This record gives sequence, structure tokens and C-alpha cells, in this order.
Amino acid sequence: MHLEIDKLIRFRETDIRQPIIIASAHYKNPVCVEVGVNEGVHAEVMYALLRPTVLYLVDPWYGNQQPIVDNKFKEKSNVALIPEYSEPASKNFGSESVELVYIDANHEYDSVKLDLNCWYSKVTIGGMLCGHDANREGVYTALDEFSKQEELRLNLSDNARNFWFIKEQSRCMRP
Ligand SMILES: C[S@@+](CC[C@H](N)C(=O)[O-])C[C@H]1O[C@@H](n2cnc3c(N)ncnc32)[C@H](O)[C@@H]1O
Repeated sequence: MHLEIDKLIRFRETDIRQPIIIASAHYKNPVCVEVGVNEGVHAEVMYALLRPTVLYLVDPWYGNQQPIVDNKFKEKSNVALIPEYSEPASKNFGSESVELVYIDANHEYDSVKLDLNCWYSKVTIGGMLCGHDANREGVYTALDEFSKQEELRLNLSDNARNFWFIKEQSRCMRP
């Protein structure tokens, strides 16, 4: 397993995704979702580093990449492919049922806003809502607005491409 992780990290050494590394140190066998999977390159990194109880992969795969992802994970019974768009897929998840959601789907402002809003309620208290391409203007604007709306700290990786929010107890529940 360690060899596999080393190989994956070396392969993507210019684009190591900081929230996943942080999460791997904090969560034990989390339930995880990746929204926007494409051929599953980053999903493999998530699987190797996070050792998830279940990894759900959400993508409509309109480019027909699903067989590639199917093939990558065919031996892994704890990986579930969900060939749907983000918002309808999110409706199948219960509130606070997922420790980590990684968003890397449509990078337009409206779509990122929708993704953040429909997945945040699914994240457990203490869980992570994170994703890629925070340095794109539309993505950053959506993140900035969402952090103000939910009064959450927006964390950015060193290269400013990755973001993460940690879900806190609701303000009205705090002692
Ligand atoms: C940048 S690629 C994902 C790359 C992948 N996360 C990686 O790093 O290996 C974006 C993917 O998002 C998918 N996508 C676009 N809009 C989406 C939506 N609304 N919901 C879910 N997936 C979407 C596309 O089909 C595409 O495969």
C-alpha cells in the first residue's frame, strides 16, 4: 500500500492536494465523496491516502470516461460510482452523513455556488468540504460568498488552488 501511495504522490508531485493530506491525518476511514471525477486520477489519490470506509464518485461522465473509472476501481467493493450531476446526486445523501466532500466539477460561479450549498449540509460536524481550482475567478467568488454566508473560515493551500472549510457546530447550538 505504501508503495502505491509513493507512486501516486510522485506522479502528481506538482499538484499534491493539501486538503486530502490534512484529512488523511485527521479522519480514520472516513466516508468520502468526490464531485467531478473525470478519469478518476484524483479519486485514486483519495482512495490511497484516505483509506475510506466508502468513496462515492459523482460525475455524469458525459465524455464517456465512466468505463475507465469502472476499470480502475473494479476490485474495490467500497467505491460506488454515481453517474449523475452533483445536485441530484446530493439528494441521495442524508444530513451530516459524509466526513469529506471534494468538489472539482463545473468551475463556473453558479455551479460552484450550487455545489457548495447542496453538499455542505451532508458534511458531518468536524468534517471537511474541500475542492480544487480556488484560484479561478468564478470559483473564488463563490467560495468567498459561501464563507461569509456560513461564517466559515476559507482555507487555501500554499499554491492557492485547493480550498477547504471545516464544518463547525451550528452557532445556535454552541454553549
Ligand atoms: C476537472 S474534471 C475532474 C478531475 C478530477 N477531479 C481529477 O482531478 O482527477 C471535471 C469533471 O466534472 C464533471 N462535471 C461537470 N459538471 C458536473 C456536475 N454538475 N456534477 C458532477 N460532475 C460534473 C465533468 O464531467 C468532468 O469529468
